[in-house]
Amino acid sequence: MGERENQLKYIEKCREIIAGKSREHGRALTYCVTTFGCQMNARDSEKLRGILEEIGFEKGGEEDSDLVLFNTCTVRDNADRKVYGRLGRLKEIKRNHPGMIIGVCGCMTQEKTAAAKVKDSYPFVDIIFGTHNVYALAQLLYEHLSKGERVISLLDEAKEIVESLPTDRKYGFKSGVNISYGCNNFCTYCIVPYVRGRERSRRASDILNEVKALAADGVMEIMLLGQNVNSYGQDFIKAGDSGVMSFPELLKRVSQVEGIERVRFMTSHPKDLSDELIDVIAENEKICSHVHLPLQSGSSRVLADMNRHYDKESYLALVKKLRDRIEDVAITTDIIVGYPGETEEDLEDTLDVIRQAGFENAFTFQYSKRTGTPAAARQDQIPQDVVTRRFDKVLKLVQDTAADRAKRLTGRVLKVLADEKNEKQEGYISGKLDNGFTVHFKGDENLIGKIVNVRLDECHGFYYMGSIAVN
Ligand code: SAH
Ligand code: SF4
Ligand code: F3S
Repeated sequence: MGERENQLKYIEKCREIIAGKSREHGRALTYCVTTFGCQMNARDSEKLRGILEEIGFEKGGEEDSDLVLFNTCTVRDNADRKVYGRLGRLKEIKRNHPGMIIGVCGCMTQEKTAAAKVKDSYPFVDIIFGTHNVYALAQLLYEHLSKGERVISLLDEAKEIVESLPTDRKYGFKSGVNISYGCNNFCTYCIVPYVRGRERSRRASDILNEVKALAADGVMEIMLLGQNVNSYGQDFIKAGDSGVMSFPELLKRVSQVEGIERVRFMTSHPKDLSDELIDVIAENEKICSHVHLPLQSGSSRVLADMNRHYDKESYLALVKKLRDRIEDVAITTDIIVGYPGETEEDLEDTLDVIRQAGFENAFTFQYSKRTGTPAAARQDQIPQDVVTRRFDKVLKLVQDTAADRAKRLTGRVLKVLADEKNEKQEGYISGKLDNGFTVHFKGDENLIGKIVNVRLDECHGFYYMGSIAVN
């Protein structure tokens, strides 16, 4: 029996137990999956929800559900702290709700010291698992339900990619699709390769079949997900597999699936971004003109130390090439401030790249020491007050630059995918431009999930107020 069939069997077994409990309580049992972290985790959460829905749980809130699952992130220390804070709160809630089942999974539990802390300091957590066995939720839940004991299942590495288990999508009209899992880059500050394992690509045929099924189910926007989409398929090539589809080719093929109107992707490592990819983005209207291109630092010295395999000049040359060849391309980035040994001169280089690249948006992070990474062991950590001062400087420049870039589109009529009702302003809808910017405009709810032509009337830094354009 394959792993998929095995898990379907556990879903069935759990379904019987949960149906029994529902009859006992005279109501449906509820669940809540709370996601921390990146798009990969968000996609994993859709899989976790899909399994729980299939078992017969109904959606509930974090405070009152019968099963609460935290899908955690550990990329920075504040991600861990958030989880501990929320777990502390659940302890009180569970006291008044004795049958409540609490689970913790994801990247944090995959790190040994954090896993030990969850195990020892939060004894009311019933199920603990990691990133490599997300697909096994039904099996772990069954073990817990049938034995009434705590279940801990943390694997050191991924065994296989289990395809086609149920998922429950957050949006009906857009979806993330994993193209690869894990990362091989080992940037010196980053914990992701340790908690997500080595890079494993999915078969192009599996990816395309998933996209086709999503399109048939009403999805029009696909976000292809990988820690480094540009190295897609390298693991197959290393294993001697010939005829592997390149990422640009895959991107093109996804955009050709009937019903798909927009394709995005994340994340592009600058060291592997090919000319072929630039051409594919430039030539295909359905592929969004948006490249998320994490810079991390503008200093060539720091970049070499971080093991990033590009320098200030090559990064700027790549930005120029993207801007020259792709009309209205939006380039967004990630920046780390306060990496060990960072000098004022290094910081100046980062500020210089921000000025020259003119990012449409940048996520700026204070360096956070992660257990087990090479950078964490260094003696030349930067004092917090220095990090804070540098961080404020970078943030201010990034905001000014992004606002300047955003202003350039004011007055234009562009396509917006209407995402949701604007909760703050009655009668307004919020949506996204091809380049990722948010636009709020007056409109009816039935526009949600549709592409609408919108005039960008006013620019407010990182979002626009617009109005539906009459053609
Ligand atoms: N695979 C992606 C990044 C995934 S993590 C890439 O390489 O582009 C998302 C972002 O978190 C990174 O780009 C980096 O800016 C930030 N980050 C990772 N580790 C960090 C750390 N230890 N401290 C601060 N920021 C970190
Ligand atoms: Fe982390 Fe670097 Fe891999 Fe991105 S490429 S996940 S920053 S190790
Ligand atoms: Fe966080 Fe894991 Fe993503 S550490 S950023 S949730 S891969």
